[in-house]
Amino acid sequence: MRILSGIQPSGKLHLGNYFGMMRPALHLQEQGEAFLFIANYHALTSVHDSARLKQDTWDVALDFLACGLDPSRTVFFRQSDVPEVHELAWLLSIVTPMGLLERCHSYKDKVSKGIAPSHGLFAYPVLMAADILIYQSNIVPVGRDQKQHVEVTRDIAIKFNNEFGEVFTVPEPSIQDEVAVVPGLDGQKMSKSYGNTIDLFGDMREAKSRIMKIVTDSKGLEDPKDPATCNVYALYKLFADDLQRAEMESNYRRGNYGYGHAKKALLAIFEESFAPFRARRAELESNPDYVEELLRNGAERARAAASSTLDKARKAVGL
Ligand code: ADP
Ligand code: TRP
Repeated sequence: MRILSGIQPSGKLHLGNYFGMMRPALHLQEQGEAFLFIANYHALTSVHDSARLKQDTWDVALDFLACGLDPSRTVFFRQSDVPEVHELAWLLSIVTPMGLLERCHSYKDKVSKGIAPSHGLFAYPVLMAADILIYQSNIVPVGRDQKQHVEVTRDIAIKFNNEFGEVFTVPEPSIQDEVAVVPGLDGQKMSKSYGNTIDLFGDMREAKSRIMKIVTDSKGLEDPKDPATCNVYALYKLFADDLQRAEMESNYRRGNYGYGHAKKALLAIFEESFAPFRARRAELESNPDYVEELLRNGAERARAAASSTLDKARKAVGL
């Protein structure tokens, strides 16, 4: 079973990325052969600053390795080190109906947020389909907002296979329902474009001040509170084990437990859970050659798999 996912290097990674995509992908690496890449071609649809793109790409590499990516199990690479995906994207684009792309929410959302409606942004799902299909992926762990793109990929694969013969494995998205959407400070989806994030490896003082700003209702200290509707609890429970959850829930329901207490508990559990990742990240940061070597190795393995699919697709269409 091949598991594949990618993440754009278009800003600092945050808790939404971690719980929505990184942690599930890292868990899946125990169940099969995982491919994970840094989608820097995709990031070009919104980042037009070469120094920033380079830095963000590097940071994503460090973040993933720090959070537990195991390079002996997972093929980890930069998307741009496998340029074969572009040739496949073209072969896929000739069977991709315009209407399929016109229906994509992500395109409309990005344009409404001010990203230039370029051809690249519109064709983004076709490149994503190429990323997935070129490695004959079975399972694609992503956050809920990417589900439609995986569905588009399935449609494209089925259409290509029908027209040209069985070339591609039809993939399935894998979405962790429990963490389908991680809320940000304001209760909306946590997203770098809403400025409501808690960064994974930011300054802890900044994390503290952000956690203190999480929006809650106006219940007083003594009042019993409902954990199910609270943004602080929604984040806390992602870190917590069953016992810790039960304890926090009973604190909420009992009363005399203020949102300030819950925020302190959230900060503490975040600090504790991430302390080993921070230490590992600092180590990696002082070892850039090791990280670069690892990414190159990953790209080599990815390229071998990619060229084999590309050859089949080229033959199938008559090139
Ligand atoms: P952002 O919204 O900050 O721009 P991306 O769109 O780059 O984040 O998302 C990268 C990955 O992280 C995707 O798989 C996405 O589904 C997941 N993700 C991002 N934000 C969240 C969130 N708040 N909850 C769950 N998953 C998320
Ligand atoms: N579009 C994804 C995102 O914004 C990143 C991505 C690119 C991806 N190619 C992919 C995810 C292939 C999974 C599979 O998060």
